[in-house]
Amino acid sequence: MWLQVSLSFFSFLFCQCQAQSQASLRRFNDPAGRCHYTFTVPSPTESSCSGSSTKQELTGVLSRLTLVEALVSRLVDGADGSSGAGTAEESLQEAYSQVTRERDQLQQDKEHLSRQVQKLQTSLAELDREAESLRKRSCQQTEASEGALYNYRPGKDPVHDLRNDAYQEMKAEVTELPASRLLPEGNLSFTGCGELLSVGNPVLHRKADSITGKYGVWLQDPDPRGPGFTNQTVWRIDAVGTDVRQLFMYEDMEQFSRGFPSKVLVLPEPVESTGATLYRGSLYYQRRRSRTLIRYDLVTESLASRLELPHAGFHGQHPYSWGGYTDIDLAVDERGLWAIYSTTKAKGAIVISQLDPVSLQVKESWETKIRKNSVANAFMVCGRLYTVASYTAANTTINFTFDTATGEGRATSVPFKNRYHYNSMVDYNHAHRKLYAWDNFHMVTYDVRLGRPRHGAK
Ligand SMILES: *[C@@H]1O[C@H](CO)[C@@H](O)[C@H](O)[C@H]1NC(C)=O
Ligand SMILES: *[C@@H]1O[C@H](CO)[C@@H](O)[C@H](O)[C@H]1NC(C)=O
Ligand SMILES: *[C@@H]1O[C@H](CO)[C@@H](O)[C@H](O)[C@H]1NC(C)=O
Ligand SMILES: *[C@@H]1O[C@H](CO)[C@@H](O)[C@H](O)[C@H]1NC(C)=O
Repeated sequence: MWLQVSLSFFSFLFCQCQAQSQASLRRFNDPAGRCHYTFTVPSPTESSCSGSSTKQELTGVLSRLTLVEALVSRLVDGADGSSGAGTAEESLQEAYSQVTRERDQLQQDKEHLSRQVQKLQTSLAELDREAESLRKRSCQQTEASEGALYNYRPGKDPVHDLRNDAYQEMKAEVTELPASRLLPEGNLSFTGCGELLSVGNPVLHRKADSITGKYGVWLQDPDPRGPGFTNQTVWRIDAVGTDVRQLFMYEDMEQFSRGFPSKVLVLPEPVESTGATLYRGSLYYQRRRSRTLIRYDLVTESLASRLELPHAGFHGQHPYSWGGYTDIDLAVDERGLWAIYSTTKAKGAIVISQLDPVSLQVKESWETKIRKNSVANAFMVCGRLYTVASYTAANTTINFTFDTATGEGRATSVPFKNRYHYNSMVDYNHAHRKLYAWDNFHMVTYDVRLGRPRHGAK
């Protein structure tokens, strides 16, 4: 609502400025040798602006005109009152240049305001689409959304998804492993690297208070390097929108939960979706509408490296099942920095690449047999990929794992909860030994328990 109000306010200003910018002041001598001043403004009926703002626009023009006239007459009076014609000439020159300056200023304002109008129109259109999608979801209608934000594909309507998830849950129940096998073998205080044994219940840290917070990324750096932040610092990016550039910094979890950010960094290139990650004092992310990876140095607050991820699909070619242009997901674990994505060659199957954290170059790649668009999300723990089956089902499972050490994948079944029914980001933090997730405006963590690899598997 407020957006619409301020938008029409800006359009009004915009029209007013357009009319004003065409105003001109001229002077000439009549045959008697007296100086005449002519002040011209275009007729409001011939102005290019139309609609209900014409009257306001006219009022605006008139009041500006009155001001300028008063200014000119004051200066002319002053000149008449004084003795020499030279002084009058000077005052007029001054008046003229003042009007010119004013006109230039108005022209600048006009440009600035038209840019604002454009921006606001874009945001408005986006928010409309978002609202429309939300309406559709809550009503569970079956038409696929046209909104680019959710990137639904035909046959991917919410009802269809829900049915799928219900089926998935039943299947998961049947294949669940006996609890005894989930316990770490002979060591309950296991803290080293191992397989994922269980994921706890989600713990809520914050709920986003605006529509731009429906999905996003929030993280803590597991291995911070540099002044200005620690392993307690919380970072957040709201990922709704087409020009996502703001990185919010919070001192610690408490400030994150309660208050405003202590710093807002503006990124040099826009962020695509929710695949960003933090590692060793840098933010790593995919540049919007490209396969370009960017490393943004949080100490110098500048771009440190950028490199294309070879052959990676992007902008809706190989997203996770929830869509949202989640084509390239960056992840960090005990073993370093990873990219989870797909390529044309892999025909949509998940490809895992280990990246050099400084240069972003691919060190080694693995191709799995699991289709990227069949999983809701994925993360790395101790060099192993784990995929989440559903992003909407309250009770779902982590049902597949791939070990980069052996190059082998297999089914697994670790229960996982999407308490808020729309989980758009899941990332592992090995220092805090938690999963960080963004579930439908809710920023949550899950405790994880790791154990020794079973059956001699590495
Ligand atoms: C349990 O794990 C810890 C940490 O990895 C290790 O220090 C300890 O020796 C282990 N205890 C047993 C009984 O294996
Ligand atoms: C895991 O769940 C997804 C989503 O329901 C499904 O497409 C996939 O086949 C499952 N994978 C395994 C290994 O069971
Ligand atoms: C999810 O599982 C919990 C127990 O773990 C159960 O209480 C709850 O009813 C389940 N929710 C749904 C939607 O099945
Ligand atoms: C955070 O850093 C402090 C100080 O360097 C360290 O003592 C603590 O163990 C770290 N916490 C985590 C979770 O890494």
